Amino acid sequence: MEETNVFYRDPALYDAMQEDSDSAEVCRALIERHHPQATMLIDFGCGTGRDLEVLAKTYTCVGVDLQTRLVDYAHRVRPDLAVRVGDMRNVCLDRTADVLVCLGNSLAYVHDNSGIRAVFRTFARHAHTDTLLVICSPVAPIVREQPQTVRMRTAHGPASVAIRYAWDLETQINTMQRHWVFDSGDEAHDVIRRRVLGPRELELHASLAGFEVVEFVDESGSGRLAGPGAYVVARHIGRSRAD
Ligand SMILES: C[S@@+](CC[C@H](N)C(=O)[O-])C[C@H]1O[C@@H](n2cnc3c(N)ncnc32)[C@H](O)[C@@H]1O
Repeated sequence: MEETNVFYRDPALYDAMQEDSDSAEVCRALIERHHPQATMLIDFGCGTGRDLEVLAKTYTCVGVDLQTRLVDYAHRVRPDLAVRVGDMRNVCLDRTADVLVCLGNSLAYVHDNSGIRAVFRTFARHAHTDTLLVICSPVAPIVREQPQTVRMRTAHGPASVAIRYAWDLETQINTMQRHWVFDSGDEAHDVIRRRVLGPRELELHASLAGFEVVEFVDESGSGRLAGPGAYVVARHIGRSRAD
């Protein structure tokens, strides 16, 4: 995975590029709305811990991520956070939490149906009755006929980034290819593949794992779904329907 995404090769660059992200605040508002008494939170696919750092001001938090490099970075830059390496398809922390989050499209990096089902079983394993699940994931593909070039300010100076998207309906994989040309003359390429799950598919996976969807909202956290990104908020209602 590290080889596919410039950000995973350079976690500091990822953090710098996400400076304006409001996903932790959107998530906190959703938790406040649906589970104001929550105290304990687990973040699956926490990356560098950037959201966890914000959420840890309100909740006792644990983060899990697949990539050792990102977890090592989180330990170095955010030493107060409890972050560990783990695969959300099978990790077991031997505890439940009031809130489970999976933000920044982390679920979309699990491409196959069996893997997705396994992730939802992981969520169920860490849930008690009324545990709130908040997932931010693509619910529709980004489809653009023409590549787009944008200027970005990065930790390595300004860069022009040419971005193309491809959409494979059979696999529901949305591929983003980027060609980075930094003003320094350095270049980088990356290819990011994300599995798109429609709202009804997310609802089905959640329901099979014993969660009931209480809300779908757009990326702002308040509007009606328009795609491509969405938050799904679900509540654990007890026994898994897959059992
Ligand atoms: C785009 S990043 C988002 C990170 C973080 N949630 C954020 O919003 O900054 C996706 C993350 O999902 C993690 N990831 C992908 N598959 C995973 C898996 N099976 N188990 C745990 N983490 C995974 C990647 O390592 C990566 O850190």
